[in-house]
Amino acid sequence: MKIIDSVATLLAWKQSLFQGASAHSPVDQPLVFVPTMGSLHLGHTALIQQARKLAGSSGKVVVSIFVNPLQFDQQDDYDHYPRDLAKDISLLKKLGVDVLFIPDQKSFPPKNTLIELKKLNHGPQSLARPGHLTGVCTIIMKFFVIISPTDVFFGEKDYEQLLVIRGMVRDYELPIHIHAVATVREPSGLAYSSRNQRLSHDSRTKKAPLIFQVLRKAKDMWQEHQIPSSELIEYVTGQLNNHHSMCCQYVVILSGDDLTTIEKPVSGETILFVSVCLEGVYLIDHIKLTSQETKPLT
Ligand code: PAF
Repeated sequence: MKIIDSVATLLAWKQSLFQGASAHSPVDQPLVFVPTMGSLHLGHTALIQQARKLAGSSGKVVVSIFVNPLQFDQQDDYDHYPRDLAKDISLLKKLGVDVLFIPDQKSFPPKNTLIELKKLNHGPQSLARPGHLTGVCTIIMKFFVIISPTDVFFGEKDYEQLLVIRGMVRDYELPIHIHAVATVREPSGLAYSSRNQRLSHDSRTKKAPLIFQVLRKAKDMWQEHQIPSSELIEYVTGQLNNHHSMCCQYVVILSGDDLTTIEKPVSGETILFVSVCLEGVYLIDHIKLTSQETKPLT
């Protein structure tokens, strides 16, 4: 695995792919990209494994590690974001990644131009974390321009991010396929997140798993009793706020297509989104209320 820490070297590597092209290794092979902020967990592993599978033996997989300062609305959250580069590098080697791109923390973020959201700027993350998705889109666009991947993998856990990036790719007519990978969960049901490491053992194993338990119960209630959104939101908020030092930042039921509010069961994709604060750490999760499938917990 090559470790590249400058844009110039990354561009030179890309150039070398073209020069090395032959009848046996044509340049139209997939160049698959997985952007991350490091501190990798099994959710990232799932993305990278699928990226490797898609790239095959002749395509290339590029993973980036960059804790993007533009997408943090609180300095403290940025400062405390978990980082473990040595562990990440050893995992990425095992997963057969071709290039690890680690741009410079200070010089990489664009200084003057940002990608602002015109629509889809009313989702729960946009409202709870002003500027967050602008920061994500801006840095992702910069990666897309430099790497020019054919395919990019994102986790479905950050559903709103995925929707916004898909919109950006459509808007700018980028020749990139965006692939979504289902949320990977700890055996307790807690969605994997780098932020889970900031929780105490007790919170991680006993308190945080309640989030997905409540989401599953809410899905059953929605499907079996067709209760209105407002009652379901009240139920979920009550269950989470009443337990174990947790506090809901938001609980909303929205269309999975355009993040507009859904009042009562409808035919399209309907998603219950939550963000819960536990020990000062914000944990986000969601459940598709309308889909039949919810994987059993192991
Ligand atoms: O999902 C993340 O880890 C980040 O938002 C991303 C996509 C790597 C952009 O910094």
